[in-house]
Amino acid sequence: MIIVTTLPDLRAARLLLPGPVGLVPTMGYLHAGHISLVQAARSQCASVAASIFVNPAQFGPKEDLTTYPRNLPRDLALLEAAGVDLVWTPTVEVMYPSGFQTWVDVDGLTRLLEGEVRPGHFRGVTTVVAKLFNTVQPHKAYFGQKDAQQAAVIRRMTKDLDFPVEIFVCPTLREADGLAMSSRNTYLNPEERQAALVVFRALTAAKAAYDSGDHTAEKLCSIVGETVAAEPLARLQYVSCADYDTLEELEMVRGKTLLSMAVFVGKTRLIDNFVFG
Ligand code: PAJ
Repeated sequence: MIIVTTLPDLRAARLLLPGPVGLVPTMGYLHAGHISLVQAARSQCASVAASIFVNPAQFGPKEDLTTYPRNLPRDLALLEAAGVDLVWTPTVEVMYPSGFQTWVDVDGLTRLLEGEVRPGHFRGVTTVVAKLFNTVQPHKAYFGQKDAQQAAVIRRMTKDLDFPVEIFVCPTLREADGLAMSSRNTYLNPEERQAALVVFRALTAAKAAYDSGDHTAEKLCSIVGETVAAEPLARLQYVSCADYDTLEELEMVRGKTLLSMAVFVGKTRLIDNFVFG
């Protein structure tokens, strides 16, 4: 496994990779969800590249950039064991040298849901992913369903800007009790970790209603709301029942539909979703 931290080294190492090349972008502090993306890439590509970069541009001024968990040696060992060929771990100065002033901004889609409560977040995501596509030049790139809106925004950007990259969205990996794996789960104390199960419980309750024939957005969202309200340590930020690609709010589940939610458990913000239809 080759580890590169400068652009000339990345370009030289990239030239030696046989194609197709798969890319797994991450912010590190890896868990089994990240590794499942590497495995998907491994099964479909001759070479696999992963990036580790905690991207300051996608954190708001009051968000957790400085406390975001990091453990590079452990991440590198996990990536090597998973069969990654190339790891790109630039510094902030390499990614955003002084004078940097060009941004990639997807309109519409990024104003909704996460974008509404985290202004500027997706501009940071799309800018860094566009830079990763330009520098690593993958044929395929792998993202998690856990961050459903991020995946929709990246699909849109890739299409709109004609990036020659095929986007794959892989299933959400969960802990045995249903909590979606996330680097941010590390912020939860034991009591909050238990309370965080309300997210999976809420989505599962909505799915049970869906399976028994209730397909109205109002019903599915109110089940989520009521389930979260019953957990004293949790506070619902939003729940949405929207079209999978356009994220337009729906009245009924119609075609591929995303039921997504954001919850604060203590100070920790958790997001999760189920797909219906
Ligand atoms: P990060 O949160 O590290 O996630 C990296 C990738 O792993 C994302 O595509 C995310 O959706 C996926 N992922 C996270 N938890 C997962 C889970 N439980 N199951 C399956 N996949 C999961 O998302 C980012 O980093 C950044 O925004 C990034 C795209 C790297 C741009 O900076």
